Amino acid sequence: MLVANWKMNLPSEGVREWCDRVAAVTSDVLFGVAPPFLYLQACGSRDSIFVAAQNCSEHAEGAFTGETSASMLAAFGASMVIVGHSERRTLYGESPDVIGEKITRAIESGLRPLLCVGESEEVRLAGGTAKLIGDQLRAALQGRRIEGLVIAYEPVWAIGTGRNATPEVVSETHEAIRTMLVESGNEAAPILYGGSVTPANATQLADVNEVAGFLVGGASLFSDRFIAIGESLRRGGAGQAQKG
Ligand code: PGA
Repeated sequence: MLVANWKMNLPSEGVREWCDRVAAVTSDVLFGVAPPFLYLQACGSRDSIFVAAQNCSEHAEGAFTGETSASMLAAFGASMVIVGHSERRTLYGESPDVIGEKITRAIESGLRPLLCVGESEEVRLAGGTAKLIGDQLRAALQGRRIEGLVIAYEPVWAIGTGRNATPEVVSETHEAIRTMLVESGNEAAPILYGGSVTPANATQLADVNEVAGFLVGGASLFSDRFIAIGESLRRGGAGQAQKG
């Protein structure tokens, strides 16, 4: 699985052109795109790319100016929603409880939650990565076995910095996440890696055990780079049945 997170950006080649180019690729990799909300429909008209929302409200409906509900996103073509991205956690102060509520709204609306977890550099240096990720998973999953759940391991220090996590770090962390997922009955959830993935490092990262794909920000804004990352996943073998 390869998911483009455009954040609050658009591909300079144009939204439709980007989607047409990615949709034209024949591959066993499942391609998804998370555009700004206004572009969900423009991206959603192709069978071979699924569409994810970058966020949803923690409420089902009501007087919440500026918010968009999970059910509205589903009605506009989204089949997945990113929850708990570190930019939402840090820039918008989303608490573990709010993230848990967003997952509830996603489930109610039939959206697959793509839950992001990951540590800051400070936490990693202090040896607290596994505990923090365990806390993030527990707060978000709340003991639930969630159909269609996808996890993205995104170390905060690797997002948008050009400093991707090494294959060793990815391997160790994904294995720890896998153990926690098995314990919570979510063993079927694929684990993506995200954080400065580019065509140059994707092959090496795709070879890591327990990497089922990538969540890509910056490099996803160019269809050629995104497609090249998809090629690496194919070569790396991720996307095989055991990796979800
Ligand atoms: P990046 O972003 O690929 O630009 O590091 C990844 C993400 O935030 O999902």
